[in-house]
Amino acid sequence: MKILSIESSCDETAAAVVEDGREVLSNVVSTQIEKHKIFGGVVPEIASRLHTENISWVVSKALQDASCTLEDIEAIAVTNEPGLIGALLVGVNYAKGLAFSADKPLVPVHHLRSHIAANYITHKDLKPPFMCLVVSGGNTLICKVNDYTDFEIIGKTRDDAAGEAMDKAARTLGIPYPGGVNLDKIAKNGDANKYKFPHPKVDGSPYDFSFSGLKTSVINLCHNAEQKGEELNAADVGASFINAVVDSLIEKTTLAMNNYNEKTLVLAGGVSANSVLRERIKNEAEKHGWKLYLPDLSLCGDNGAMVGAQGYFEYINGSLADLSLNGRATADITEPNS
Ligand code: KG4
Repeated sequence: MKILSIESSCDETAAAVVEDGREVLSNVVSTQIEKHKIFGGVVPEIASRLHTENISWVVSKALQDASCTLEDIEAIAVTNEPGLIGALLVGVNYAKGLAFSADKPLVPVHHLRSHIAANYITHKDLKPPFMCLVVSGGNTLICKVNDYTDFEIIGKTRDDAAGEAMDKAARTLGIPYPGGVNLDKIAKNGDANKYKFPHPKVDGSPYDFSFSGLKTSVINLCHNAEQKGEELNAADVGASFINAVVDSLIEKTTLAMNNYNEKTLVLAGGVSANSVLRERIKNEAEKHGWKLYLPDLSLCGDNGAMVGAQGYFEYINGSLADLSLNGRATADITEPNS
């Protein structure tokens, strides 16, 4: 069963054709990075406009690359939440128009569910249940994936997401957008023990994260150095900062894995591309005897294929939408489209 999928939640306009939730027949991503670079981050209005300009050819190319026409497509899946609302609406309205005109079912997909589903493409043997650490630009959470469409949140960030903190640290250090990716590269040459950053705990919620204090401490470190006329080594600061973020991610995930007696761990989201996180979580999994699944690097960032993968399982589950489907800037992974 072939699903045409559309993604426009942030700064990538993407579409794909995916067969039976696991086989990618095409995957077209038009990135807006160059356009946002000069502003140091994503400008929502510019993102929406660029999605509008690009969505038509991106979808056509996805069909073409898969050697398909709309006739061959069983359903149209689209990311409708969470994300930048103007950006989401471009994809949602395009998908609605296509579903109406071609008389195809419309399948709404939660963005974080699709990040997790990137693993079903990478690992054909992966099936729920499993524990998942989702680390993206806008969200950070630990959840139990009981089934393909059944999620339970174990812990989440109380403030900033890990990706957001990485981006902010990079910006403070004068590292160009996209911050997280470039910080990862620069930090490879740094001393991860040079600076001690705080390791925040959330009282009474052992599985919850907090990254805003960490973000503030890197800003303070940079400003203090600037005031004293001292030059900081960006590689050392970056490496120490990444180390502190990864410490926190691993600490809470390990606690959740142990207390819930889970043996399978899956990583998902843009920050799962981070080299330190990948390396350290592999070591942790080995130490505890967990089976670990990491998404292929090409599927860590936003893409249409992961939407097609999750869209397949939502479709099988009967989670369809009519033409009143809307976008939502925020939405819980456990209760999509409510
Ligand atoms: O999951 P994603 O594509 O966006 C959302 O769905 O929110 O994640 C984007 C985030 C950005 O904050 C970006 O800086 C971060 O993932 N990121 C990384 C790396 N690659 C992307 N952070 C650290 N190291 C990386 N290699």
